Amino acid sequence: MSAMLIASHPAPVREAIERHRRQLDANPVVYLEGNNRSLQNRARAAAGQYLGVPGEAVALTDSTTMGAGLVYNGLRLRYGQEILTTDQDYYVTHESLRLAALRTGAKVRKISLFEDIRTVSEAGLSARITSQIGPQTRVVALTWVHSSTGLKLPIPAIAAAIRSINAARGEADRVLLCVDGVHGFGNQDVGFGELGCDFLFAGCHKWLFGPRGTGVIYGSESGWRAALPTIPTFLDSSAYSHWISGTDPGAGSAVRMTPGGFKAFEHPWALTEAFWLHQSIGRAEVARRTAELATQIKDGLAAMPHVTLVTPRSPRLSAGIVAFDVAGMSAQQVVSRLREWKVIASVAPYARPHARLTPSIRNFPHEIDFALQAIRAMA
Ligand SMILES: Cc1ncc(COP(=O)(O)O)c(C=O)c1O
Repeated sequence: MSAMLIASHPAPVREAIERHRRQLDANPVVYLEGNNRSLQNRARAAAGQYLGVPGEAVALTDSTTMGAGLVYNGLRLRYGQEILTTDQDYYVTHESLRLAALRTGAKVRKISLFEDIRTVSEAGLSARITSQIGPQTRVVALTWVHSSTGLKLPIPAIAAAIRSINAARGEADRVLLCVDGVHGFGNQDVGFGELGCDFLFAGCHKWLFGPRGTGVIYGSESGWRAALPTIPTFLDSSAYSHWISGTDPGAGSAVRMTPGGFKAFEHPWALTEAFWLHQSIGRAEVARRTAELATQIKDGLAAMPHVTLVTPRSPRLSAGIVAFDVAGMSAQQVVSRLREWKVIASVAPYARPHARLTPSIRNFPHEIDFALQAIRAMA
């Protein structure tokens, strides 16, 4: 159950990587020159189709971490503007925001989303965040599915509330909703338009089972207008003519946000096959199956007196991450014990760590039963 960490490449992805690798090894310059732009744009188009936007709205990155760094470093923030985030967000968001604040003079404010996760509701979470937006708030920085607790935020409801706040604001003061989407990306049935955020960044090497070292940033039109690239792109041919003529390439865009540099090209090129695999199964079917398996784990854990289930039971407030504690054991001890049973669980470096099982469409109900048996044996 490693979907929340790193993918084992499924056959179509592995075969595409091998095909490109063979051609690159046989004739690197000619194969690269003849294919790089078209294959990266094909991956952008496939990513766009997956969440219902044109490929032009999608930037390619190496990971969620790179996406967070590019977005938060790239936002044109003014001195004194505020970035609102939460105590429950991950290191990657907090550190990107801290660095963005140091560079721009913007301030980061962290709020706590709940005192007790057992009492959270979609409406309560949305109100808790949006009630804290003030006149100086320019960015709301959130995580779709928390990797500490497995809590899923109601991003569409938060986005709708932010839209009504923005109705009275000018372009330069609009609140931008930016989301680390990695733990919903590849297991939820929702498009970018329905999510309603300005930026969603995610690695593709987790729930999507894409090539290792790939990721995407989806941006709204006003999102792209508000951000500048950090790393020069190789994907936009006009970037070179602007460089040579000394002209300004203009506003930010997804293509300009896609970092250049030579890389392990066979990986981003094979990203298309990962999206096609998910499309062939169906986004809704993947989401249904993930929720079914996660529910099986939650039901099993909830019946064990020595276990405290942390993740909310409702699929409306959770996705594929199931976090839990075992009485008398640290999260790391639980994970190590499960490893002895050859069950892959994990723990992340949060102040309050929990053990996590993360079923995906690669898993079967009998594997869940086996993991539950191993946890039962820890009583
Ligand atoms: C919420 C969250 N964001 C980002 C990451 C890092 O993702 P990536 O490997 O795609 O940079 C993780 C965990 O690995 C995570 O839990």
